[in-house]
Amino acid sequence: MKKTYLVTGGFGFIGANFIRYILDNRKDVDIINIDSITYAANPENLAGYTKNYRFYKADIADKQALSKIFNENKIDFVINFAAESHVDRSILEPSIFTRTNVEGTLNLLELSMKHKVEKFLQISTDEVYGSLGGAGKFTEETPLSPRSPYSASKAAADMLVMSFFHTYNMPVLITRCSNNYGPYQFPEKLIPLTIINALNDKEIPLYGDGKNVRDWIHVLDHVKGICLVLEKGDFGEVYNIGGNAETKNIDIIIYILDKLNKPHSLIKYVKDRLGHDRRYAMDFSKINKNMGFLPEYFLEKGLDDTIDWYVNNENWWRKILSGDYKEYYKKMYENR
Ligand code: NAD
Ligand code: TYD
Repeated sequence: MKKTYLVTGGFGFIGANFIRYILDNRKDVDIINIDSITYAANPENLAGYTKNYRFYKADIADKQALSKIFNENKIDFVINFAAESHVDRSILEPSIFTRTNVEGTLNLLELSMKHKVEKFLQISTDEVYGSLGGAGKFTEETPLSPRSPYSASKAAADMLVMSFFHTYNMPVLITRCSNNYGPYQFPEKLIPLTIINALNDKEIPLYGDGKNVRDWIHVLDHVKGICLVLEKGDFGEVYNIGGNAETKNIDIIIYILDKLNKPHSLIKYVKDRLGHDRRYAMDFSKINKNMGFLPEYFLEKGLDDTIDWYVNNENWWRKILSGDYKEYYKKMYENR
């Protein structure tokens, strides 16, 4: 039987990779993409996809608009990617994060319950667990301890999702993933920013001492993990997804510079991010044991492919650099 997936935020980085993967590999799924087209969206990410696919421009924080879409369509699964997703922006303007990430998620939950959707999957992040100091990794049992307005809004959304399971017995699932990289990522995030600045011989701003650690995962591995959880996950459960690739920021940047034959002198140490989380690392043994999930990409191979993608898709990112991003970049990095 054909299923209809309502995907929110499908013009963003991970949502677009998810939709492309589903439409390329599944004939038994129709996708409805809802996106309000913020700065982070790019309709070109899904250029050429028309079969089994429909798009609605709508804001998930606008319940009336959402309600109309739920009334017009029979939706089986909801997969909520839509979010304000950048920590640095959340430090500049927290309120848009609660609006989209918290109120938007609540609207989706209420409408999904009303329309009796079969599954509701919330796409969450390791950042809800806070910051690791010494050894150890985040498990699904680690208490939530978010430290940025972004991660606080994602943690609030996760709690709402779980509350709908406990209170209304709603069929919900949550995935929490580590830092993604890969094609179609907006250039404000560390890896695409480094590649694009290096290609343009521009300085690369490195926060603090550069030794903060992230557990990097290729976006296609994340997408495959999401598909497993959608298929096999137990309702009311959280599944961590990680890349097995803990790396310091400085080492990521050096790898990219070396690959592109650019000098290390492009690295510019700048003032640290406020409240900068030191280290994230995911224990994903639950999804590994229950569903056989393992990331397929080694970091080096994933980075090489990603560097190639940005080198070969200059048209994609050039347009972004000439728009609002220029203003944001100035505000974030000038005089830092
Ligand atoms: P992104 O910023 O690239 O894309 C977000 C998309 O959501 C954009 O297309 C944007 O237009 C849309 N959107 C934003 N506000 C909206 C609203 N109010 N209504 C409708 N659409 C709206 O984000 P991403 O990196 O693709 O992240 C997707 C999801 O994955 C987010 O929920 C994020 O918290 C989560 N996540 C991201 C990472 C990562 O490393 N990028 C890691 C773990 C989890
Ligand atoms: P980012 O890609 O913003 O992801 P997140 O904050 O969600 O982990 O940042 C990844 C790491 O890189 C983080 O420790 C902050 C650091 N960073 C820099 O050093 N310079 C930059 O210009 C950016 C964007 C990030």
